[in-house]
Amino acid sequence: MVFSVAIDGPAGAGKGTIAKYISQKFSFAHLDTGLLYREVGRLVIEESIDTLDVVRLETVAQTIDPGHLDEKVLRNEHIAAIASQVAIIPSVRRVLTQKMRDFTDNVTSDFQGVILDGRDVGTVILPGADVKIFVTADEKVRAHRRTKEMSISADVIELKNILEDIKTRDARDQNRQADPLQMAVEAILLDTTFYDIETVCRKAEEIVEHALLVYHGNDYMLKTSVC
Ligand code: DC
Repeated sequence: MVFSVAIDGPAGAGKGTIAKYISQKFSFAHLDTGLLYREVGRLVIEESIDTLDVVRLETVAQTIDPGHLDEKVLRNEHIAAIASQVAIIPSVRRVLTQKMRDFTDNVTSDFQGVILDGRDVGTVILPGADVKIFVTADEKVRAHRRTKEMSISADVIELKNILEDIKTRDARDQNRQADPLQMAVEAILLDTTFYDIETVCRKAEEIVEHALLVYHGNDYMLKTSVC
């Protein structure tokens, strides 16, 4: 099994940006696990599937290919809301979790390791991950970042809507029965409320670099790329 990093946290905390940064820095394969749920959400919308039709949703989940996910299409708040709804269904989670583990198991030696980000990577998908980081931030700060990401003018109404949306998704992700959003006991907490994303990426880099050295032993030379 390759060196593995689990990054979890709520929507808008910065875990995706950190995971991308770390994957480039250390030449890790990367999977954003939320994209698999989003792809199910996209298909629900496209095929007008009832989100209560558990059998159909499980069949849809089986068709998802982690290697063929269009991030640009899936980064959309409507899809995200449906993804959060289908993510409460245990059978859908079982199917997608297995695909995420298969992705990890099939990482080739071209990579120095693998990094997965999501809600339950450290607790459920990869409980044996070598490094676990839990990224969080105040919900108002996360809502503000979301509005900036979506490049809309952060007027009061939009910000309020996005904050409400974030609260709803947080509540659903934290309170669902199956694999809720939780910090793994061994995870290192990164609260990004008062830091810019560059600072947070550097902190995560230090954590991963240290863990890689411990994993491989002291004579190991880090193969970091220049970012
Ligand atoms: O990280 P994201 O916003 O792309 O995730 C979309 C939804 O997918 C999120 O609201 C909950 C769900 N999700 C999950 O339940 N488990 C994961 N490991 C990743 C995402």
